[in-house]
Amino acid sequence: MVLVTGGAGYIGSHVALALIDSGLRVLIFDNLETGHRETVDTLMRVKPGAAEFLLGDLRNPADVAQIFKKYKIKAVMHFASNICVEESVQNPTKYYNNNLIGSLNLVDGMIKNGVKAIVFSSSAAVYGQQKYSPMDEKHPQNPVNPYGHSKLIFEEILRRYDELCGLGSVCLRYFNVIGADKAGRIGEWHEPETHLVPNLLTASETGGLFQLYGNDYDTVDGTCVRDYINVEDLADAHMSALNYLMDGGASDSFNLGSAAGHSVGQILAACEKVTGNGVNVEIQGRRSGDPAILVADNRKAKDILKWTPKRSLEDSIDTAHRWSRRLASEIRRR
Ligand code: UFG
Repeated sequence: MVLVTGGAGYIGSHVALALIDSGLRVLIFDNLETGHRETVDTLMRVKPGAAEFLLGDLRNPADVAQIFKKYKIKAVMHFASNICVEESVQNPTKYYNNNLIGSLNLVDGMIKNGVKAIVFSSSAAVYGQQKYSPMDEKHPQNPVNPYGHSKLIFEEILRRYDELCGLGSVCLRYFNVIGADKAGRIGEWHEPETHLVPNLLTASETGGLFQLYGNDYDTVDGTCVRDYINVEDLADAHMSALNYLMDGGASDSFNLGSAAGHSVGQILAACEKVTGNGVNVEIQGRRSGDPAILVADNRKAKDILKWTPKRSLEDSIDTAHRWSRRLASEIRRR
């Protein structure tokens, strides 16, 4: 059985779905603080008996002990964490506590129970301000917020646990994840939503204002450039990482991005094309901590994990759009 911590959240749930689809049994562990019970219920319905759910908090060692007491875990996919960059600056203790103490309890439980493989959800935020573009894994690491710092520290801790205890780990550094399950069962669902694509889609559906943070950057059209990667492509990379570890691959870190940069203006135009609606834009000042350009060099993941992103930007926005409509019209109203 594969343990998926944070399996009720956006990325964790898409990876859980990929694991179930590949015929593996999955234990979803989540405290449902930001994840959704509805998402868990959907995952449990995909294939009867393939998924189980355990409500618990990694910060509580007794909850972690329960996992390994009740279930025979073969490997771990670790997503449970707080993810808002701005909130991490305002409340660093919350981020260090949840993202580090919880993760340490998890690793402790793994070691005590002989579980030797973990795929860790890391972030491009471990790099901080970019010194060159595209960024490879050797790019200097100077995270500019506690969120990115917590991810970097845990990557380092995992490396030590490999040396000391033989714990195999793959750290996956995500760039900007977008899109949804193509069958429309699950998708991005943050409360409140801060991310670009869902905010653009909501504005285009409701006629509300979209706040664009900064049009005076040194980029193609003055707006920030990011590397947008489809969530199902990301799930494929997690499957490759798990197989790599199970085949005895060495612990390592990989960028997961598409290697293509798109500006906020270009994403806005793509959303308008997919939805057929214009977006009302209000230009705001720059959002603090936003680097001008973040684009991945993804060759290492391609070479070593044998992974290639396949979905187009339009496909990603299309699946996100279908999910966003379902969320607004059906799921949030339940
Ligand atoms: N943006 C807007 N308006 C919005 C939302 C976003 O203009 O309503 C802009 C942002 O200023 C930024 C771009 O759209 O230029 C992308 O913003 P997102 O909030 O969607 O994503 P970020 O690049 O800020 O953050 C992502 C992940 C984080 C991760 C970070 C790593 O969501 O979890 O990359 O750098 F930490």
